[in-house]
Amino acid sequence: MLQVNKLNVTLDTLILAKDMSFSLEPGKVHVIIGPNGTGKSTLLKTLFGDIQPTSGDISFRDTSLKRKQISRWREQFGYMPQDIRLDIELSVLEVVLLGQLNALGLRLDNSLIKQALTALEKIGLLHLANRPVNKLSGGQCQMILFAQALMRNPKILMLDEPVSALDLHFQHVLLDHLDTQTKQQSWVTLMVLHDLNLAAQYADNLLVLKNGHVVASGHPSDILTPALVKEVYDVNAEVTKDSYGIPFIRTIRPGFTPQKPTLQPHNLQSKRTICL
Ligand SMILES: Nc1ncnc2c1ncn2[C@@H]1O[C@H](COP(=O)(O)OP(=O)(O)OP(=O)(O)O)[C@@H](O)[C@H]1O
Ligand SMILES: [Mg+2]
Repeated sequence: MLQVNKLNVTLDTLILAKDMSFSLEPGKVHVIIGPNGTGKSTLLKTLFGDIQPTSGDISFRDTSLKRKQISRWREQFGYMPQDIRLDIELSVLEVVLLGQLNALGLRLDNSLIKQALTALEKIGLLHLANRPVNKLSGGQCQMILFAQALMRNPKILMLDEPVSALDLHFQHVLLDHLDTQTKQQSWVTLMVLHDLNLAAQYADNLLVLKNGHVVASGHPSDILTPALVKEVYDVNAEVTKDSYGIPFIRTIRPGFTPQKPTLQPHNLQSKRTICL
Protein backbone atom coordinates (compact mmCIF):
# COMPACT_ATOMS: atom_id res chain seq x y z
CA MET A 1 0.00 0.00 0.00
CA LEU A 2 1.26 3.52 -0.88
CA GLN A 3 0.05 5.93 1.76
CA VAL A 4 -0.12 9.68 1.73
CA ASN A 5 -0.93 11.30 5.02
CA LYS A 6 -1.73 14.99 5.60
CA LEU A 7 0.43 16.08 2.67
CA ASN A 8 0.99 19.81 2.17
CA VAL A 9 2.72 21.11 -0.94
CA THR A 10 3.26 24.77 -1.76
CA LEU A 11 5.19 26.07 -4.78
CA ASP A 12 5.98 29.79 -4.54
CA THR A 13 2.69 30.98 -3.10
CA LEU A 14 0.53 28.29 -4.73
CA ILE A 15 -1.02 25.73 -2.40
CA LEU A 16 -1.18 22.50 -4.42
CA ALA A 17 -1.90 19.99 -1.68
CA LYS A 18 -3.65 20.85 1.55
CA ASP A 19 -3.75 18.16 4.23
CA MET A 20 -4.16 15.60 1.45
CA SER A 21 -4.53 11.97 2.53
CA PHE A 22 -5.19 8.86 0.49
CA SER A 23 -3.95 5.32 0.09
CA LEU A 24 -3.30 3.33 -3.08
CA GLU A 25 -3.73 -0.42 -3.10
CA PRO A 26 -1.47 -2.69 -5.12
CA GLY A 27 -2.98 -4.54 -8.09
CA LYS A 28 -5.27 -1.61 -8.91
CA VAL A 29 -5.18 1.15 -11.51
CA HIS A 30 -5.64 4.50 -9.74
CA VAL A 31 -6.43 7.42 -12.03
CA ILE A 32 -6.09 11.10 -11.13
CA ILE A 33 -8.26 13.60 -12.96
CA GLY A 34 -8.60 17.35 -12.43
CA PRO A 35 -8.29 20.74 -14.14
CA ASN A 36 -5.12 22.13 -15.73
CA GLY A 37 -2.71 23.60 -13.20
CA THR A 38 -4.39 21.95 -10.23
CA GLY A 39 -1.25 20.09 -9.16
CA LYS A 40 -1.56 16.58 -10.64
CA SER A 41 2.01 16.50 -12.04
CA THR A 42 3.27 18.18 -8.86
CA LEU A 43 1.69 15.40 -6.80
CA LEU A 44 3.43 12.71 -8.88
CA LYS A 45 6.76 14.55 -8.60
CA THR A 46 6.27 14.81 -4.83
CA LEU A 47 5.59 11.07 -4.52
CA PHE A 48 8.74 10.42 -6.58
CA GLY A 49 10.77 12.64 -4.24
CA ASP A 50 11.47 15.39 -6.80
CA ILE A 51 9.50 18.03 -4.89
CA GLN A 52 9.84 18.50 -1.15
CA PRO A 53 6.48 18.77 0.63
CA THR A 54 6.06 21.39 3.36
CA SER A 55 4.72 18.70 5.65
CA GLY A 56 3.08 15.29 5.65
CA ASP A 57 4.13 11.72 5.23
CA ILE A 58 4.51 9.47 2.19
CA SER A 59 5.15 5.79 2.85
CA PHE A 60 5.22 2.51 0.98
CA ARG A 61 5.08 -0.84 2.76
CA ASP A 62 5.61 0.90 6.10
CA THR A 63 8.78 2.72 5.05
CA SER A 64 8.53 6.46 4.90
CA LEU A 65 10.08 8.53 2.09
CA LYS A 66 11.76 10.65 4.76
CA ARG A 67 13.54 7.67 6.28
CA LYS A 68 14.59 5.96 3.07
CA GLN A 69 17.48 7.28 0.94
CA ILE A 70 16.07 9.00 -2.12
CA SER A 71 17.89 6.71 -4.60
CA ARG A 72 16.61 3.60 -2.77
CA TRP A 73 13.12 5.14 -2.71
CA ARG A 74 13.16 5.79 -6.46
CA GLU A 75 14.34 2.29 -7.29
CA GLN A 76 10.80 1.17 -6.48
CA PHE A 77 9.30 3.40 -9.18
CA GLY A 78 8.68 3.36 -12.87
CA TYR A 79 7.85 6.96 -13.76
CA MET A 80 6.71 8.30 -17.10
CA PRO A 81 6.65 12.12 -16.91
CA GLN A 82 4.34 14.41 -18.90
CA ASP A 83 7.10 15.75 -21.17
CA ILE A 84 7.65 13.25 -23.99
CA ARG A 85 10.36 14.94 -26.06
CA LEU A 86 13.34 12.66 -26.64
CA ASP A 87 16.05 14.88 -28.07
CA ILE A 88 18.97 12.48 -27.71
CA GLU A 89 21.12 10.51 -30.14
CA LEU A 90 20.08 7.04 -28.99
CA SER A 91 18.23 4.20 -30.62
CA VAL A 92 14.80 3.04 -29.41
CA LEU A 93 16.37 -0.13 -27.98
CA GLU A 94 18.95 1.91 -26.04
CA VAL A 95 16.26 4.17 -24.57
CA VAL A 96 14.18 1.18 -23.45
CA LEU A 97 17.32 -0.37 -21.91
CA LEU A 98 17.86 2.82 -19.88
CA GLY A 99 14.86 1.68 -17.84
CA GLN A 100 17.25 -0.89 -16.35
CA LEU A 101 19.94 1.70 -15.65
CA ASN A 102 20.81 0.15 -12.29
CA ALA A 103 21.65 -3.15 -13.97
CA LEU A 104 23.58 -1.76 -16.96
CA GLY A 105 27.32 -2.39 -16.87
CA LEU A 106 30.00 -1.80 -19.48
CA ARG A 107 28.92 -4.97 -21.25
CA LEU A 108 25.26 -5.48 -21.94
CA ASP A 109 23.74 -8.68 -20.70
CA ASN A 110 21.99 -10.60 -23.52
CA SER A 111 19.01 -11.30 -21.26
CA LEU A 112 18.49 -7.54 -20.76
CA ILE A 113 18.46 -6.96 -24.52
CA LYS A 114 15.98 -9.81 -24.91
CA GLN A 115 13.81 -8.29 -22.17
CA ALA A 116 13.83 -4.89 -23.91
CA LEU A 117 12.97 -6.45 -27.28
CA THR A 118 10.12 -8.42 -25.66
CA ALA A 119 8.80 -5.21 -24.06
CA LEU A 120 8.76 -3.57 -27.50
CA GLU A 121 7.14 -6.61 -29.09
CA LYS A 122 4.33 -6.68 -26.50
CA ILE A 123 3.28 -3.16 -27.40
CA GLY A 124 3.64 -3.76 -31.15
CA LEU A 125 6.75 -1.59 -31.68
CA LEU A 126 9.52 -4.11 -32.27
CA HIS A 127 9.99 -2.76 -35.80
CA LEU A 128 11.24 0.53 -34.31
CA ALA A 129 14.03 -1.05 -32.19
CA ASN A 130 16.93 0.32 -34.23
CA ARG A 131 15.43 3.69 -35.17
CA PRO A 132 16.96 6.86 -33.61
CA VAL A 133 14.49 8.23 -31.02
CA ASN A 134 14.97 11.84 -32.14
CA LYS A 135 13.37 10.88 -35.48
CA LEU A 136 10.21 9.36 -33.99
CA SER A 137 6.74 10.87 -33.96
CA GLY A 138 5.31 12.24 -30.68
CA GLY A 139 3.06 9.21 -30.20
CA GLN A 140 5.89 6.77 -30.94
CA CYS A 141 8.08 8.55 -28.32
CA GLN A 142 5.28 8.20 -25.79
CA MET A 143 4.99 4.45 -26.41
CA ILE A 144 8.79 4.05 -26.12
CA LEU A 145 8.82 5.84 -22.76
CA PHE A 146 6.04 3.50 -21.64
CA ALA A 147 8.18 0.49 -22.64
CA GLN A 148 11.09 2.05 -20.69
CA ALA A 149 8.93 2.44 -17.55
CA LEU A 150 7.77 -1.20 -17.83
CA MET A 151 11.39 -2.32 -18.23
CA ARG A 152 12.05 -1.23 -14.65
CA ASN A 153 9.59 -3.87 -13.42
CA PRO A 154 8.50 -1.37 -10.78
CA LYS A 155 6.58 -1.80 -7.55
CA ILE A 156 4.96 1.59 -8.10
CA LEU A 157 4.23 2.78 -11.62
CA MET A 158 3.35 6.44 -12.21
CA LEU A 159 2.31 7.78 -15.60
CA ASP A 160 1.57 11.43 -16.27
CA GLU A 161 -0.88 11.73 -19.18
CA PRO A 162 0.57 8.65 -20.93
CA VAL A 163 -1.91 8.66 -23.82
CA SER A 164 -1.97 12.40 -24.63
CA ALA A 165 -0.23 11.87 -28.02
CA LEU A 166 -1.64 8.45 -28.89
CA ASP A 167 -4.17 7.46 -31.53
CA LEU A 168 -7.22 5.39 -30.55
CA HIS A 169 -5.47 2.07 -31.22
CA PHE A 170 -2.38 2.81 -29.12
CA GLN A 171 -4.43 4.42 -26.31
CA HIS A 172 -6.06 1.05 -25.76
CA VAL A 173 -2.84 -0.96 -26.36
CA LEU A 174 -1.10 1.05 -23.62
CA LEU A 175 -3.98 1.13 -21.13
CA ASP A 176 -4.94 -2.50 -21.59
CA HIS A 177 -1.34 -3.64 -21.17
CA LEU A 178 -1.04 -1.44 -18.09
CA ASP A 179 -4.20 -2.86 -16.56
CA THR A 180 -3.15 -6.49 -17.19
CA GLN A 181 0.38 -5.98 -15.85
CA THR A 182 -0.86 -4.06 -12.79
CA LYS A 183 -3.08 -6.97 -11.83
CA GLN A 184 -0.57 -9.71 -12.70
CA GLN A 185 2.40 -8.07 -10.97
CA SER A 186 0.47 -6.39 -8.11
CA TRP A 187 1.87 -2.98 -8.99
CA VAL A 188 0.57 0.20 -7.42
CA THR A 189 -0.33 2.07 -10.61
CA LEU A 190 -1.12 5.78 -10.52
CA MET A 191 -1.85 7.62 -13.73
CA VAL A 192 -3.05 11.08 -14.73
CA LEU A 193 -5.65 11.22 -17.51
CA HIS A 194 -7.73 14.06 -18.96
CA ASP A 195 -10.14 11.88 -20.94
CA LEU A 196 -12.99 11.07 -18.55
CA ASN A 197 -14.30 8.24 -20.73
CA LEU A 198 -10.92 6.49 -20.73
CA ALA A 199 -10.72 7.08 -16.98
CA ALA A 200 -14.18 5.51 -16.60
CA GLN A 201 -13.10 2.47 -18.62
CA TYR A 202 -9.74 1.80 -16.98
CA ALA A 203 -9.78 3.17 -13.42
CA ASP A 204 -10.35 0.79 -10.53
CA ASN A 205 -10.18 3.88 -8.36
CA LEU A 206 -10.57 7.50 -9.40
CA LEU A 207 -9.08 10.45 -7.47
CA VAL A 208 -10.51 13.82 -8.40
CA LEU A 209 -8.20 16.73 -7.56
CA LYS A 210 -9.15 20.37 -7.23
CA ASN A 211 -7.73 23.29 -5.25
CA GLY A 212 -5.27 21.14 -3.32
CA HIS A 213 -7.92 18.63 -2.23
CA VAL A 214 -9.14 15.21 -3.31
CA VAL A 215 -12.75 16.32 -3.87
CA ALA A 216 -13.99 12.81 -4.71
CA SER A 217 -12.57 9.31 -4.81
CA GLY A 218 -13.94 5.88 -5.55
CA HIS A 219 -15.00 3.65 -8.42
CA PRO A 220 -15.93 5.64 -11.58
CA SER A 221 -19.48 4.17 -11.55
CA ASP A 222 -20.00 5.56 -8.07
CA ILE A 223 -18.57 9.05 -8.42
CA LEU A 224 -18.78 10.24 -12.05
CA THR A 225 -21.93 12.38 -12.14
CA PRO A 226 -23.00 15.52 -14.04
CA ALA A 227 -22.73 17.44 -10.74
CA LEU A 228 -19.09 16.38 -10.28
CA VAL A 229 -18.15 17.31 -13.88
CA LYS A 230 -19.81 20.72 -13.38
CA GLU A 231 -18.10 21.30 -10.03
CA VAL A 232 -14.64 20.31 -11.22
CA TYR A 233 -14.56 21.59 -14.82
CA ASP A 234 -17.52 24.00 -14.99
CA VAL A 235 -18.83 22.02 -17.95
CA ASN A 236 -22.32 20.62 -18.39
CA ALA A 237 -22.46 16.92 -19.12
CA GLU A 238 -24.80 13.99 -19.41
CA VAL A 239 -23.61 10.79 -17.75
CA THR A 240 -25.25 7.56 -18.88
CA LYS A 241 -24.21 3.92 -18.54
CA ASP A 242 -23.05 2.13 -21.70
CA SER A 243 -24.07 -1.44 -22.54
CA TYR A 244 -21.24 -2.74 -20.28
CA GLY A 245 -22.48 -0.66 -17.33
CA ILE A 246 -19.51 1.75 -17.64
CA PRO A 247 -20.26 5.47 -17.22
CA PHE A 248 -20.29 7.38 -20.50
CA ILE A 249 -19.72 11.13 -20.24
CA ARG A 250 -21.08 13.33 -22.99
CA THR A 251 -20.16 16.95 -22.52
CA ILE A 252 -22.52 19.64 -23.74
CA ARG A 253 -21.25 22.61 -25.74
CA PRO A 254 -21.63 25.91 -23.82
CA GLY A 255 -24.58 27.93 -25.18
CA PHE A 256 -25.83 24.93 -27.15
CA THR A 257 -29.47 25.18 -28.16
CA PRO A 258 -31.03 22.20 -29.89
CA GLN A 259 -31.75 22.77 -33.64
CA LYS A 260 -34.76 21.43 -35.52
CA PRO A 261 -34.01 17.80 -36.52
CA THR A 262 -32.59 17.56 -40.06
CA LEU A 263 -34.40 15.43 -42.67
CA GLN A 264 -33.28 11.80 -42.55
CA PRO A 265 -32.63 9.92 -45.87
CA HIS A 266 -35.90 7.96 -45.57
CA ASN A 267 -37.79 11.26 -45.11
CA LEU A 268 -36.17 12.65 -48.27
CA GLN A 269 -37.18 9.50 -50.09
CA SER A 270 -40.85 9.81 -49.04
CA LYS A 271 -40.82 13.52 -49.95
CA ARG A 272 -39.58 12.67 -53.45
CA THR A 273 -42.35 10.09 -53.78
CA ILE A 274 -44.95 12.72 -52.92
CA CYS A 275 -43.52 15.11 -55.56
CA LEU A 276 -43.86 12.42 -58.23
N1 LIG B 1 8.63 24.53 -10.04
C1 LIG B 1 7.56 25.28 -9.93
N2 LIG B 1 7.60 26.46 -9.28
C2 LIG B 1 6.49 27.23 -9.15
N3 LIG B 1 5.28 26.88 -9.62
C3 LIG B 1 5.19 25.71 -10.28
C4 LIG B 1 6.31 24.85 -10.47
N4 LIG B 1 5.90 23.76 -11.15
C5 LIG B 1 4.59 23.94 -11.40
N5 LIG B 1 4.17 25.11 -10.88
C6 LIG B 1 2.80 25.63 -10.91
O1 LIG B 1 2.01 24.76 -10.12
C7 LIG B 1 0.71 24.62 -10.68
C8 LIG B 1 0.41 23.14 -10.86
O2 LIG B 1 1.22 22.62 -11.89
P1 LIG B 1 1.10 21.10 -12.35
O3 LIG B 1 2.07 20.92 -13.46
O4 LIG B 1 1.22 20.23 -11.17
O5 LIG B 1 -0.42 21.09 -12.86
P2 LIG B 1 -1.23 19.90 -13.55
O6 LIG B 1 -2.42 19.64 -12.69
O7 LIG B 1 -0.34 18.76 -13.83
O8 LIG B 1 -1.72 20.60 -14.88
P3 LIG B 1 -1.87 20.03 -16.40
O9 LIG B 1 -3.20 19.32 -16.45
O10 LIG B 1 -1.89 21.26 -17.22
O11 LIG B 1 -0.71 19.14 -16.69
C9 LIG B 1 0.70 25.42 -11.97
O12 LIG B 1 0.08 26.67 -11.73
C10 LIG B 1 2.17 25.60 -12.29
O13 LIG B 1 2.39 26.80 -12.96
MG1 LIG C 1 0.41 17.92 -15.54
